[in-house]
Amino acid sequence: MAFACLISWQSLLAQKFEGLAQKPPMGFNTWNTFQTNINEQMLKNMVDTFISSGMRDAGYQYFVLDDGWMAMQRDSSGNLVPDPAKFPGGMKKFVDYVHAKGLKFGIYNCAGTLTCGGYPGTRGYEYQDARFYAAMGVDYLKYDWCNTDGLNAREAYTTMSKAIKAAGRPVVFSLCEWGNHKPWEWATGLGHLWRTTGDIGAGFDGVVNKGTWSAMSVMGIADKQGEMRQYAGPGHWNDPDMLEVGNGMTFNEDKAHFSLWCMLAAPLMAGNDLHKMSDQTKAILTNKDVIAIDQDALGIEGFKYYAFDGLEIWLKPLSNNSLAVCFLNRSDRHQKLVYDWKAHQLKDTLSNMNIDFNKSTYRIFDLWSKKAASNTDRVLKVDIKAHDVLLLRLDKQ
Ligand code: GLA
Repeated sequence: MAFACLISWQSLLAQKFEGLAQKPPMGFNTWNTFQTNINEQMLKNMVDTFISSGMRDAGYQYFVLDDGWMAMQRDSSGNLVPDPAKFPGGMKKFVDYVHAKGLKFGIYNCAGTLTCGGYPGTRGYEYQDARFYAAMGVDYLKYDWCNTDGLNAREAYTTMSKAIKAAGRPVVFSLCEWGNHKPWEWATGLGHLWRTTGDIGAGFDGVVNKGTWSAMSVMGIADKQGEMRQYAGPGHWNDPDMLEVGNGMTFNEDKAHFSLWCMLAAPLMAGNDLHKMSDQTKAILTNKDVIAIDQDALGIEGFKYYAFDGLEIWLKPLSNNSLAVCFLNRSDRHQKLVYDWKAHQLKDTLSNMNIDFNKSTYRIFDLWSKKAASNTDRVLKVDIKAHDVLLLRLDKQ
């Protein structure tokens, strides 16, 4: 009897499923390109392309449907209804298709009364919706923050986290609260990743004009990441939003965007149309050496170490005392970089990193050109194009 009481008390305390998302989740999400214009056939083709393009082999795993998968009303029992026009075969069949390809399936809803797109939100239906997702085989839930007037964010996300746990199927819980209530300070026990800002758009710097609203740019988001890096780690990640690689920025800008997201140990959710992906876009998204920076087992979020005259230096401590260094040319002109490793000690109190290149030498590998580039005994001299990066991996010699 005492034993049974103990179990039930623990299950009351229990929050998220542990052991998931030990590395930043990687996948594809429909929103950035398709918004609510999704349907079963197009998505099945996308799943096939996810595999034929090499995305799965590069480590992408979650195939996530964002807003717009539902009918506008719940059924008479209060259950969510996948839109029968968009999913004539039913959602379960589509989920089975995704799983049969060795992928995991993710879906979207919102803590409010309606989703941002005006579809039925989960407010008041948390446990019922969580059971519905478990029955469908959902592995990942993105949970948004529209139409939540009067709700307390921490409480709303706690309720859904408990509902997911109670439904019994391990689900990666992705909080999409835009950083309004600093979820990094309270969501570690509730979810596996949390958005840190408003929505991204396909623009490099400044803001991105979307007609009726302004999205954030790559650099606009990157600028806001510093203060919360201590809260990221295996199983709990800061999420600077999905990728815009392949969605209209230049090749250099896409490279810079992807490099920075990997430096930030960000979840890597491709947001482009995989069918129309150029070779350049594919080469960015599937660069395994760059992805390895993001997926490094230590799970330490990188940071901006230095910024001067449009040139930034970002650092990310890696396992085995290695280090990723990203030289970013944020300016609109070519820059000549001359960098004497020995003149700068690289320190990070969060990870106890303290590298003095006068005392130890590191081999340098250029992660985009895939070339070994001498070592830290030599002064680095290189041209970096506007909005481009030099992304290096340093391993102790
Ligand atoms: C919000 C989210 C986006 C997307 C849309 C869907 O804006 O931040 O990522 O999910 O809603 O309506």
